[in-house]
Amino acid sequence: MNDGQDKTTHFGFQTVEEGAKAGMVHGVFSRVASKYDIMNDLMSVGIHRLWKDSMMDWLAPRPGQRLLDVAGGTGDVAFRFLKRAPGATATVCDMTEPMLIEGQKRAEAEDMADRLSWVVGDAMALPFEDNSFDVYTISFGIRNVTRIPDALREAYRVLRPGGRLMVLEFSQIPNDMLQWLYDRYSFNVIPVMGQIVANDRDSYQYLVESIRKFPNQDTFAAMIREAGFANVKYRNLTLGIAALHSGWKI
Ligand SMILES: C[S@@+](CC[C@H](N)C(=O)[O-])C[C@H]1O[C@@H](n2cnc3c(N)ncnc32)[C@H](O)[C@@H]1O
Repeated sequence: MNDGQDKTTHFGFQTVEEGAKAGMVHGVFSRVASKYDIMNDLMSVGIHRLWKDSMMDWLAPRPGQRLLDVAGGTGDVAFRFLKRAPGATATVCDMTEPMLIEGQKRAEAEDMADRLSWVVGDAMALPFEDNSFDVYTISFGIRNVTRIPDALREAYRVLRPGGRLMVLEFSQIPNDMLQWLYDRYSFNVIPVMGQIVANDRDSYQYLVESIRKFPNQDTFAAMIREAGFANVKYRNLTLGIAALHSGWKI
């Protein structure tokens, strides 16, 4: 019987054993944690902020909602959500504790401390009860998860009926010439920036490779439907460099 131990997956462009991937991803984010926020601004020339604002515009946070932000890292999404929704609460869950620790050092974390909690946990086996959140978000996290269908099933489980999933992730540009140009930027500039700013070329090489391995918009939307979500829709951001996916637990 195959117990799954000999299954393989990808870590960027490398093929690795499934069981090894989470440790490698944890290594990447532990190494980059202290430079994560500044690198995000540099790599995207600040555009990731606009994408996260677009996520909030579509999500339209409401007072009193309970948000679970998985792979929440340094808290960008949770802070934005709480700023827009008085009386809401947010749980930031991430498997890499150094990322959460960086988030807790940010000024917003102190200002909103009474509405925020920080939990170390894996998207594929969330440490939360069924039906316990109104909103589940995951921003630039899901492409790092070893078994994406498991994470989507967990999202469905922890959302209450009527709850909403929203995913922000790099995506595919539906134009070959623009995709080619974007690839030149990603593969030639980002690892060098990673070397200069974070002294870590390999982690940023992984990040750009993982973007290329992630499914396109329609394939990912089908995976979300497969996990049980209804009314699944997506919106491209900046020509499809990134995309927002929304789904509901009915
Ligand atoms: C690129 S960062 C995104 C951080 C934040 N959401 C943002 O948008 O800036 C990806 C995060 O995903 C986390 N992550 C990767 N795989 C995970 C998993 N299986 N469970 C929980 N977190 C995971 C990493 O530790 C890292 O903090």
